[in-house]
Amino acid sequence: MRPPMPDHRPDRLPLWRHIALFRRDILSAQPARLYRARMAEVKLPFLHSVMVNTPELVRLVLQERPADFPKSARVREGLRPLLGDSIFITNGAVWARQRRMIDPAFEGGRTRESFPAMWAAAEAMAARLAPGEIEVEAAMSHVTADVIFRTLFSVPIEEATAAEVYRAFRAHQRANPILNPAALVPMPPWVPRLFPRKTRATAARIRALITRMVDARMAEIAAGTAPDDLATKIMTTTDPETGARFSTEEMVDQVAIFFLAGHETSASALAWTLWLVAAHPDWQARLRDEAAVLCGSIGGVSPDFSVLRAMPLIRDTFREALRLYPPVPMMVREAAGPECFRGRDLGAGAQVIVSPWHMGRNERIWDDPHDFRPERWQDPATTACARAGFLPFSAGPRVCPGAGFAMAEAVLILARILCAWEVQPLPGAVPQPVAQLTVRARDGIRVVLSRR
Ligand code: HEM
Repeated sequence: MRPPMPDHRPDRLPLWRHIALFRRDILSAQPARLYRARMAEVKLPFLHSVMVNTPELVRLVLQERPADFPKSARVREGLRPLLGDSIFITNGAVWARQRRMIDPAFEGGRTRESFPAMWAAAEAMAARLAPGEIEVEAAMSHVTADVIFRTLFSVPIEEATAAEVYRAFRAHQRANPILNPAALVPMPPWVPRLFPRKTRATAARIRALITRMVDARMAEIAAGTAPDDLATKIMTTTDPETGARFSTEEMVDQVAIFFLAGHETSASALAWTLWLVAAHPDWQARLRDEAAVLCGSIGGVSPDFSVLRAMPLIRDTFREALRLYPPVPMMVREAAGPECFRGRDLGAGAQVIVSPWHMGRNERIWDDPHDFRPERWQDPATTACARAGFLPFSAGPRVCPGAGFAMAEAVLILARILCAWEVQPLPGAVPQPVAQLTVRARDGIRVVLSRR
C-alpha cells in the first residue's frame, strides 16, 4: 500500500481559498506539481515568498551562504513567548555563541553516555503498553519526552516538575500550535499580531517551571553534587571565545527548545514509522529478527551502545519514514539583501522556504519517491539521492545538533517495541498527514498491538 499523502490543491485557485487552505494545513495547501517544480513563487503586495526546490538552491541557502538567509522574523515572533531567545530562533553572533556552548553536549561520545537513560525510558514505555488498539502519536510523545527529561535532567517524566512541564506543553500546543502555519501566511501588515492572553499565560507557566529546574541545577553545580547529564554539561561549558557560561535566563530558553525540538519531532517520526511497519508485515518480520539482539536485555541493565550497529534495517526504516514524513516539513528563511533565483528578483525580506517534505519526495531525485522502500538505503546509489534531497535534520551550520541522539533513541525504541509486540494496522484507519507543530495525522495514528 502506498503511504498516505495529503490531498493536494488544484494548480489554480483564488487567493482567498489558498490562504484559507494554508492556514489550515501547509501540506495540502501545496499543489502536487511541487514534487517536480524547481521553484515556486508567491508575490503579493505584502508578501513575496519562494520555495526553493533544487539541491543547488537549497545548498546555497543552508550551506554556502547561510548568513545571507537568517531565520525569518515572521516565524521568530510566533515562537518568542515560549522560546525567548533560544538557539532555534536567534541569528548572527547570538546564535553562533549559543551553538558553541551547545554543540559539545552532543558530540560523539555524549550520545553513548545518554544511552542508559534512553534504555530506562524505553523500558518504562514497555511497561505502559497493553494489547489492543493504541494511538501511537500520544504514546511516542510520552516516551520521547521521558527520554529528554532523563538525559537532560536525570529525572523520569513521573517526577513532579517534569510531569507538570509535560502537561503544560501539551495544553500550550493545543491552544497555540508552535509551528503556527498562520505565521507563514501572507498577512497584510495591518493584521494585528498580538498573542492571545492565554498563549502568553501558558508560555509563562512553562518557563516558570523550567526556571525551577534550572535554578535547582545551578545550585547543585555550585555545591558539586550535580549529576553528569546534558544539563550539567551545557551549564558548565564555557564559551571558548568569552569564557562565559549561560545565565539562568539563557539556559531556560535552551531547555525550552530542547524539550520541544527534542521530543515532538522524534515522536512524530516514530509514530509514522510504526504505522509504516504495521502496514508492511513482511518487512516487520525482518525487523523483528534484527531486534532479537536487544531482547535479552529486557528487564535488565542497558545493553551497550554498540547494539545499535547490529540493527541496520531498523535504522533504514526510520530513515525512510523521515524521508516520507519529515517532522519539520518546511523551514523558513528571509533574504537579508536582494537576490536573484532562477531569473526572479527577490528583495530584502523576501521569505525563502526550504521544504524537507518536497525534497524528500522530489521526483527528479528519488525513484518511486512516494513509496515505502526502506531497502533503498542499502543501495549505494541512494547516497547521492540523500545528499541531494534528504533534509529531515536540515543541513549546514544550523543542522539539527540532536540528529545523532534522535537516531539512537529511535532505533532503540522501535527495537524495544518489536521485541515484544506485533504491530498491525487498524482496519479502515489510514492516517492523513497534516502539518501542525510537526507532521501529524489528522485523527491520530492508530495501530493494534498483540503480544508476540
Ligand atoms: C527525529 C528527530 C528530529 C528531527 C527530525 C529534527 C529536525 C530538526 C530540524 C529540521 C532543525 C532545523 C530547523 C531550522 O533550521 O529551521 C532542527 C534544529 C534543532 N534541533 Fe532537531 N530534530 C530532531 C531531534 C532533536 C533532538 C532530539 C534535539 C535535542 C535533544 C534537537 C535539538 C535541536 C536544536 C537545539 C535545533 C536548533 C539548532 C540551530 O538552530 O542551530 N532536535 N532539528
